[in-house]
Amino acid sequence: MSYKRMTAEEAASLIQNGEQIAFSGFTPAGATKAIPKAIAAKAEAEHAAGREFKIGVVTGASTGDSCDGVLARAEAIGYRAPYQSNADLRGRANKNTLKFTDLHLSMTPQYMNYGFMGGFDWAIVEAADVSDSGEILLTTSVGIAPTGLKLAKKVIIELNSYHSKELRGFHDIYETANPPRRREIPIYAAGDRCGCEVVKIDPKKIVGIVETNAPDEVKPFKASDPITEKIGQNVADFLAAEMAAGRIPPEFLPIQSGVGNIANAVLGGLGSNPEIPQFCMYSEVLQDSVIDLIEKGRIKHASATSLTVTPQKIQEIYSNPKFFREHIVLRPQEISNSPEVSRRIGVVSINTAIEVDLSGNVNSSHIMGKNLMNGIGGSGDFTRAAYLSIYTCPSVAKGGLISAIVPNVSHCDHNEHSVNIIATEFGVADLRCKTPYERAEILIEKCAHPDYKDLLREFVRRAPVGHTPQTLAMAYAFHEAFVRDGDMRKAVFPNS
Ligand code: COA
Repeated sequence: MSYKRMTAEEAASLIQNGEQIAFSGFTPAGATKAIPKAIAAKAEAEHAAGREFKIGVVTGASTGDSCDGVLARAEAIGYRAPYQSNADLRGRANKNTLKFTDLHLSMTPQYMNYGFMGGFDWAIVEAADVSDSGEILLTTSVGIAPTGLKLAKKVIIELNSYHSKELRGFHDIYETANPPRRREIPIYAAGDRCGCEVVKIDPKKIVGIVETNAPDEVKPFKASDPITEKIGQNVADFLAAEMAAGRIPPEFLPIQSGVGNIANAVLGGLGSNPEIPQFCMYSEVLQDSVIDLIEKGRIKHASATSLTVTPQKIQEIYSNPKFFREHIVLRPQEISNSPEVSRRIGVVSINTAIEVDLSGNVNSSHIMGKNLMNGIGGSGDFTRAAYLSIYTCPSVAKGGLISAIVPNVSHCDHNEHSVNIIATEFGVADLRCKTPYERAEILIEKCAHPDYKDLLREFVRRAPVGHTPQTLAMAYAFHEAFVRDGDMRKAVFPNS
């Protein structure tokens, strides 16, 4: 390889105040680990010298602390999109000292292509290999890396020798044309491939290579608890019953599953249910549990944009690449999350809600209507297009002070027209083709925590006649009670 070798500090010295960078990374998987730290150190030095230094950071989704965390703490981020999950970054977004915009992940590459967020000075991308002809073998995620590499004026590669070159063949890089010349994405089953193994760019754009050797910063999950286990079981039982009733075909449908403990519990429930046949994933992120189910023969093909697995799991994959290559495909996020493909192949989407209201509207991203948690991520990409869209959550948060079932959500990410099923530890509310009054009743009786049922029934009972049980003056009584008294159970309705 004839590219210039440089240190992370030399790479950072090239980055100027106000520049916009497309970084690789979708979750900590495939995120750059050395150059952001060096940029953060440069920012701190510039600030100490009284000079402005902030950059625009666009990635596939969240990244690791070595990217989002260090840059946020150094006050080096001026603009950030489309998703995050870092406490330091979130804190600044919620104080409005950092401009953060929460975007649908499948739309982000198109927004980049059309210049909705301005141009890209740099792409800084982690790779497992780079050829002299400009062929880049990505590591554990694809995300927006192909789009960033295409649009950026200049490219720096973090060549991470921790990742195996055996990753060749895991990726399927396919680029859609811009409207109005776009054709259908030729994926007709979760495991189909339609692109190539590497990203190809003009090698003259690569100004340098920084060598690293570091695993992805993926943390093992917290041990599951009885509530998440019960939610997982409820979803698995519901899907098995749907199949028995003929509403899911005998070969089953591809599953999209969010991240976190509930998602793991749902997959565990599906994997261990003997009534559910071997199935496929058409998802965004693959976690350790998916790898286990592939090894057990329960998952046939798993499609995603990121392999967010622990170092131990990635080593398992690297020790048997031929086997896993047949089962795993990593795609750009506009393809992994494509509503067109999801609608065609009938994806069953399973994501987590922060709160759900009596109409079935879901809030996935904001606390008490104002503070960002992580963002909408890919949940909207799948929910609207799914054959069956499922949201899960524990019935209460903060030890019971907050009900997840509320009269009205304080922020709406997914509306009642796109949300089919809600599952908590108490049961499953099937909202399909139900009227607003029926939906409210099913949600209260099947999903709400007993401490909140009477209050929710009272809200419905007091609503004046209309198509939807709604009283504007009481709409946020639960949230107001939490803000006022720290406990939603203290909700009061006018004249009560
Ligand atoms: N009000 C206030 N806080 C709430 C809450 C509510 N209704 N519901 C949950 N919380 C708090 C929890 O107490 C917890 O707080 P803590 O971090 O201080 O302990 C925090 O929110 C996270 O909740 P947790 O139960 O640990 O859930 P999680 O880790 O499964 O995350 C989401 C849940 C919704 C935040 C997460 O799934 C998400 O960001 N989703 C949006 C993106 C997405 O769906 N991605 C996948 C699509 S492919």
